[in-house]
This record gives sequence, C-alpha cells and structure tokens, in this order.
Amino acid sequence: MSLQNPSMILTGASGGIGRAIAEEYARNGWNLFLQGFRHIDMLTQFCEELSSRCGVRAAAIRSDLADPESVRRMFETILNEDPSPDVLINCAGIAWFGLLQDMTDAEYERVMETNFGSVFRCCRAVLPSMLRRHSGCILNISSMWGSAGSSTEAVYSASKGAVDAFTRALGKELAPSGIRVNAIACGVIDTPMNDVLTSEDKAALADEIPLGRFGRPEEIAKTAYFLTGPDSSYITGQVIRADGAFL
Ligand SMILES: NC(=O)c1ccc[n+]([C@@H]2O[C@H](COP(=O)([O-])OP(=O)(O)OC[C@H]3O[C@@H](n4cnc5c(N)ncnc54)[C@H](OP(=O)(O)O)[C@@H]3O)[C@@H](O)[C@H]2O)c1
Repeated sequence: MSLQNPSMILTGASGGIGRAIAEEYARNGWNLFLQGFRHIDMLTQFCEELSSRCGVRAAAIRSDLADPESVRRMFETILNEDPSPDVLINCAGIAWFGLLQDMTDAEYERVMETNFGSVFRCCRAVLPSMLRRHSGCILNISSMWGSAGSSTEAVYSASKGAVDAFTRALGKELAPSGIRVNAIACGVIDTPMNDVLTSEDKAALADEIPLGRFGRPEEIAKTAYFLTGPDSSYITGQVIRADGAFL
C-alpha cells in the first residue's frame, strides 16, 4: 500500500457496475473509498480482497445516500483520511418500475434523492478539495433513459435526465478550474438491477439491442477509467452513451 497512489471515491461500489469499476481502479494501483449501503458486509470483504490482491488501500464506508446527513458524515470521514481525492464516481442508483399513478411520495423521493440528490451532494462535498488543487475528475453513471425516457420508469428517467443536465452544466462551470465532469449513459447492463426480469424477458430485450446482448459491467468500468484519466483530457461536460446502439 502506498499513500502516493492516486485515490478515488466511488458510490454504489457494492453493486454490479460499481464492483467492476472498483476492480479496474484497484488493478491500476488506485487507493479506494468504496461506499455501500445494504451490502456493506460483502463490500468490506471485497475491500480486504482488493487490498491483498492489488496492494492498494481500499476502505468500505456505509452510507444511505438518500439521507443528506449520512452523505455529509461519509465525506467528513473520507476527507479526514484523505484530504485530496483525485476522482469521484457517482454510481449508486435505484430503479422503480410501475405506473406513475401507483408511485407514492416516499418512493418518488427515494428515487430522486438516491439517483440525483446524492450526485449533487457528493459533488458539492468533494469540490472544495478539487478546487484548491485546480484538478480532479467527476464521473456520473447515468442511463440512456435519461434522454430517451422509459415507459413505467418515468421518475427513474427524470432522475437520470437531471444527472445528464447537471453533468453538462457543471462541466462548463468547472472547466476553468481544471476539473472535468462527464457521465456515462448506460444501456442495459448485466447486473442485479435487472434481476426483476425473467430469463425470457432478458432474451427478448437482448434481441432488441443491435449488438445482440446486454453490456458487461467491465465494459462500463473501462469507459469510466478512460473518462477519468489523462487520455480523455479534452473531454468534459459530456454524456457518453454506452448502449450497444439500443437507442
Ligand atoms: N444495470 C443497468 O442496466 C443500468 C442501466 C442504466 C444505468 N444504470 C445505472 O448504473 C448505476 C449502478 O447500477 P447497477 O446496475 O450496478 O445496480 P445495482 O447492482 O443494483 O447496484 C446499485 C448500487 O447502488 C447502491 N444504493 C442503492 N440505494 C442506495 C442508497 N439509498 N444509499 C446508498 N447506496 C445505495 C447499492 O448499495 P447496496 O446494495 O449496498 O445497498 C448498490 O451499490 C445506477 O446508477 C443505475 O441507475 C444501470
């Protein structure tokens, strides 16, 4: 373990895409602050495994990102330990399928706060440190439905549309300060988020995708690593779609 390694903060690290992103950064020698919520035990074990396998420092942090106070405490802990994280990736998110008239206020708030409120609060919390150093990268994991809209996922689509607009605007706001902000608008990726689908539904959905299959979390992880690294130094304020040409 070296404190000289670059460091990153990743929300949703206990999920399918988050785990793959953590793996990609660990293999490249990054120190990691990995946030999870319900699956914190699994995440703690994963951190131990990454530390011993990749020789990096990996810390698991439990936070309910739908709760502003919990987000504040999480950043207090992280920034106490490492006052200058290089990268923030906002990956946590929840889906909600159903007819709009059946959605309660509590469900609406949970989707919006988890998918968009957390992105706003995590960016706000990390920015003073990045602004001081005039460097840093932020990446938001969005969805193709943020621009296209999905039937029975109106609020989920709206939450990701908010992430897209926020990314474009913040990219412009922070460019003069040397900080880049981008998003990946994912298509259908093979993770537990799609476990609500039957295998027949999954096969029918894959047939609709020109590349003929769901995306793999590792493919999103490679795109994330590119978008937060020196090879993408002229890309900011962009929402890059990775959907196998679905849309
Ligand atoms: N999979 C897809 O097809 C797809 C498509 C487009 C976009 N995306 C986006 O990609 C991102 C990752 O999705 P995924 O497929 O990896 O989903 P996933 O496997 O279900 O993982 C979701 C992650 O979000 C975390 N999370 C959920 N609610 C939270 C809360 N209130 N507070 C803190 N953490 C919370 C979960 O933590 P715990 O499990 O520990 O609670 C988990 O780490 C999401 O933003 C999603 O909208 C996914």
